[in-house]
Amino acid sequence: MTPELSIPAPEALAACRVLVVGDVMLDRYWHGVVDRISPEAPVPVVRMEREEDRLGGAANVAMNVKTLGAQATLLTVTGEDAAADALRRLLLRSGVVPLLQSDEAVPTIVKLRVIGRAQQLLRIDVERPPAAPLLDRLTQTFAEQVQHHDVVLFSDYAKGALAQVEQMIALARAAGKPVLVDPKGHDFRRYAGATVITPNRAELAQVIGQWRDESDLVRRVDALRNEIRIPSILLTRSEEGMTLFEPQAIQHEPARAREVFDVTGAGDTVIATLAALMAAGQPLGEAMRLANKAGGIVVGKFGTAAVSYEELAA
Ligand SMILES: Nc1ncnc2c1ncn2[C@@H]1O[C@H](COP(=O)(O)OP(=O)(O)OP(=O)(O)O)[C@@H](O)[C@H]1O
Ligand SMILES: [Mg+2]
Repeated sequence: MTPELSIPAPEALAACRVLVVGDVMLDRYWHGVVDRISPEAPVPVVRMEREEDRLGGAANVAMNVKTLGAQATLLTVTGEDAAADALRRLLLRSGVVPLLQSDEAVPTIVKLRVIGRAQQLLRIDVERPPAAPLLDRLTQTFAEQVQHHDVVLFSDYAKGALAQVEQMIALARAAGKPVLVDPKGHDFRRYAGATVITPNRAELAQVIGQWRDESDLVRRVDALRNEIRIPSILLTRSEEGMTLFEPQAIQHEPARAREVFDVTGAGDTVIATLAALMAAGQPLGEAMRLANKAGGIVVGKFGTAAVSYEELAA
């Protein structure tokens, strides 16, 4: 029999501080109507009616930490533009402390979806990798901030904000803080020293190759853990739930979603929940079961991509 899930008291969570660092984007939606084809080119003309902005990437993760009831600081890089202002406003409205290192030489990352006739007609991505001086400033601010937080969470979307993640992990370790990483890319060695990484199936397969079956997966993960010097790997497996690989044990939790409406951002909710609970002193194995519950709740929601304390405790 599995023991009941225990969640820290709200007052305990409210005292916990999570430092979220990573790539941030503004998810923007232009909703409009299409009633003609352009005379200039064979494309629909969308008459824009409504703009909607949502926090993306590490900003969504930080918002998730705060929604659960812990304190969240977001450290990232942006441009000096209207999109950065929109990000800051949304973060403040969610109660996240924004530490936006800005540089007029880069644009804030925006993913603009143009929606007409209830379907996405076009997506426009605005992004350019940040330059070295801005990244130095990010690491410098991290060095000042890390001691004021209980855990550090790196959210990597491979947009360049975490180019100096190795230095930041070293700083976090020196300060004695647990480090969680949502990884990207083909080289996880750059996260060496982290406490736990949370790849999804595709992200893990990119590094260890496609596994044939469970025992093959276990062998490949063991080899990876030794190679990259990370003790714990939490594989999130969408409708298959999640598996935690640790030196002494492997723990699997089946997915608990009752209905699935929107799976985007489930990984963000999972790592945010883990970080908040670990900041409150929960061991990883217990925190993982609640994070799986949170993932199951969030995929059943439209719109708001976060889970509240009450929902998680219910
Ligand atoms: N289709 C699904 N059915 C049930 N549970 C799901 C489903 N998709 C996701 N979940 C829950 O959410 C968790 C994280 O999902 P997933 O492994 O898809 O993360 P992800 O790929 O990083 O997501 P994203 O990148 O969109 O944030 C799963 O471990 C599971 O608990
Ligand atoms: Mg993910």
